[in-house]
Amino acid sequence: MCGIIGVTGGEGILETLLDSLGRLEYRGYDSAGIALESPWHPDPGRTSGEATAGDDRADRLGATLWRARAAEGTASLQALKKLAQAAPLEALAGIGHTRWATHGRPSEVNAHPHLDCTARVAVVHNGIVENCRELADHLLAEGHELASETDTEVLAHLVEAELAQAQSTSQAQSTSQAQSTSQAQAEDGGLPAAPGVLAEALRRVLPRLEGSFALAVMWSGEPGRIVAARRVSPLVVGTESTGTGQSRSLLASDIPALLGKADRFFVVGDDEVVELAAGCVRVSGAGGERIDPSELEVNWDLEAAQKGGFDDFMSKEMHEQPQAIADTLLGRVLGDGTLTLDEVRISDEELRQVDKVFVVACGSSYHAGLVAKYAIEHWARLPVEIDIASEFRYRDPVLDQSTLVVGVSQSGETLDTLQAVLAARRSGAKVLAVSNVVDSSMARQADGVLYTRAGPEVGVAATKTYLAQLVALQVLALYLAQLRGILYPAETDRLLGELAELPGLVQVALDRSDAVARVAARYEGTKDFFFLGRHVGFPVALEGALKLKEISYLRAEAYPAGELKHGPIALIEPGTLVVGVATRTRLWEKMMANVAEVKSRGATVVLVANDGDERSAAEADEVLWVPRTHPLLAPVIDVVPLQLFAYHLARLHGHDVDRPRNLAKTVTVE
Ligand code: AGP
Repeated sequence: MCGIIGVTGGEGILETLLDSLGRLEYRGYDSAGIALESPWHPDPGRTSGEATAGDDRADRLGATLWRARAAEGTASLQALKKLAQAAPLEALAGIGHTRWATHGRPSEVNAHPHLDCTARVAVVHNGIVENCRELADHLLAEGHELASETDTEVLAHLVEAELAQAQSTSQAQSTSQAQSTSQAQAEDGGLPAAPGVLAEALRRVLPRLEGSFALAVMWSGEPGRIVAARRVSPLVVGTESTGTGQSRSLLASDIPALLGKADRFFVVGDDEVVELAAGCVRVSGAGGERIDPSELEVNWDLEAAQKGGFDDFMSKEMHEQPQAIADTLLGRVLGDGTLTLDEVRISDEELRQVDKVFVVACGSSYHAGLVAKYAIEHWARLPVEIDIASEFRYRDPVLDQSTLVVGVSQSGETLDTLQAVLAARRSGAKVLAVSNVVDSSMARQADGVLYTRAGPEVGVAATKTYLAQLVALQVLALYLAQLRGILYPAETDRLLGELAELPGLVQVALDRSDAVARVAARYEGTKDFFFLGRHVGFPVALEGALKLKEISYLRAEAYPAGELKHGPIALIEPGTLVVGVATRTRLWEKMMANVAEVKSRGATVVLVANDGDERSAAEADEVLWVPRTHPLLAPVIDVVPLQLFAYHLARLHGHDVDRPRNLAKTVTVE
C-alpha cells in the first residue's frame, strides 16, 4: 500500500512529484506529502516551509530540506498542491508519498516524508517494518525523539544513526560536495565510483529491518542524491536524458507514475541499494558490490495511465475491456489452432505431470479463480482446489511436486497471495503467477508467469484486469487440456474461435451502458441486494456484489442460488432486490426455480439474461441483456452489466468510483 516517488535532476522537480502523486493516488489517499532538497541559501526566507534543516555549518556544504504534508483524505493531494505554492524556487531533488494508513491513524503528523532528529534526512516508505516497535525502543534509548506513530519514522532515525558510522568508513569517497561532484563527472556521469555515504548508511540499516518495504531517502549532506531500497514491495527506477543536459532520474512504486517522464526503466532487486543522481543510477548489493540493473521493456504509453476523455478511470477501464481481452489472447493461439504459452517457464513435461491444481488469490482475482476451477476441471479433467490466499497461508495444504499452484493477482504485489505462493514453492509445488504487472514480485517469485495484458488499471475496483484474468485462466485450462490430450482438436478449435469472439461480445454489453443506467436509477433508493447465480454464474454473482459493495457502499450478499433455501431466504422480503445471473447454462431451469422462490416472497428481480430469452424476461422485473456465448466463457460477458450497475448506482449516490473509502488498489499488508 502507499505510493512513493522520487526525482533528481532536471527542471520542474516539484511539478513532476505532484503529477506522479496524482497517478499513484490509487494506492492510498489518507495523506500526501513531499520533501524537496534545495541548494543551501544564506537567506532563510528563501526556504521557508513547514520544516527546514538548520543553517549549521554542515548544511552550508549541502542543501536544505523543505517539507509539506496534508492529511485530508481524498482531498489530500489538492491540499498539498496549495501548500506547495510556498515551496523553494529551486530544487535539486525531491521525494513524495501518498499514504494508506497502516501504522498510525491518518493525520498530518503521521504523513510522509518523515524526518530524523536533525531534519536533514527525509524518508518515504511503502510497506510495513514489522519490528518497528523494537527498533523504536532502541532509538528512544539512544536519545532519538520520535514525533509520529509510524514505522517509517523509525527508518529516518536509523539512517541518521548510521550516517556517522558510514561517513567515517566512506572517507575515500568524498565527504565534501565539491569533491563528489568532480568525481561524479569523471567517473559515472553524476555519481562517484563507490557508493556514497547515504547509500552506505542505508545498507547498514537494511539487515536490521523485518517486513516489506520500498523506501527512498534524501540527506542534505549529499545534495541531488536519492537513495532507495526495496524488499517485497514494488519499486521501479527510471532515467530520462533529453540530450540538452537536462537528464534526470526517478523512482516510483509503479511504472505508470513514470510514464512520459523516463525513457529507460530498471528493476531493483530485494535488499539492493540504488543511488540516483541526475540522469544516472547505480545499484549495489549487500556488500557494496556493483550490480548491473536489468532494464525493463515498457510498452505502456502515457495515454494508458490517464483518463482519456472519460469521467473517471473506472469507466475508461471498463471500456478498455475488449482490448484487454484481445491483447491477453494475442499470440497464444498459433495459426494451426494450437495453443502456446511462451511466457510460462514450466516445461510441458512438468505440466503433464501435474495431478492437482490449487488456485490462490484475493478479492476479484479469487472470483476469477473460481471460474478457472470450473474450466480446468471440465476441460482438463484435473482436480482443482481454490482458496483465499490469506486462508491458504495458514492452513496445511497438501502439496507436492506434482501440484500446480496458480497465484492470481493483477498487481502481483498482494501480500497474502505473494506469501501463499512462496509457501507453495517451499513445499515443492510448481507455481504459476497470473499477473498484469510485468516483473511484479509474484511474477519474479514464481516458476512461470502468464501475463494478462490489460495495461495499467488505476481505478480501485478491478474491471479490465478481472476480465483479462478470466480469459488468461480459460486459456490455461485449454492449454492443460491440450497437453493432457483430453479435448478433440475440433473441440479446442471451436472453443478458441469462441474465445476470439469475446472482445466483440463484451463491446456489445458495454454499449448497453445507458440501459443499465436506467435500471440502476429505478433502484437508487434500494438498500439490500442479493446476487444469485449457479455454476459459473455464482462467481459472477460474487463479483457483481463485490463491485456494488466497494464503490456504492450498499449491502450486497451473493449466494449460489441453490443454497438460498438453506437459510438466507429468510432475509427476502418485499423491497429486497435480487439480481440473478440467468444466462443459458444447463442449470438455467433450476436457476429460474430459485428466482420463483424469491419472487413469491416479495423480492424484486433483475436478471442478467441472454438476448432474446423471453422466458427469462417473463420472470423478471427488469432484464440486463447480454449476448450469448459458451457457458464456461459466459462470465466474461455476464459480469459486464453488473460492473455497470454498480458503477451507475455509485455515481447516483455521488461516490468517487475510482477511490472508494477505506480501500487501496493494492493490499500489501496482511
Ligand atoms: C477488486 O475490485 C478489489 N479492489 C480487490 O478485491 C482486488 O481484486 C484484490 O485486492 C486482489 O488484488 P490483486 O489482484 O492485485 O492481487
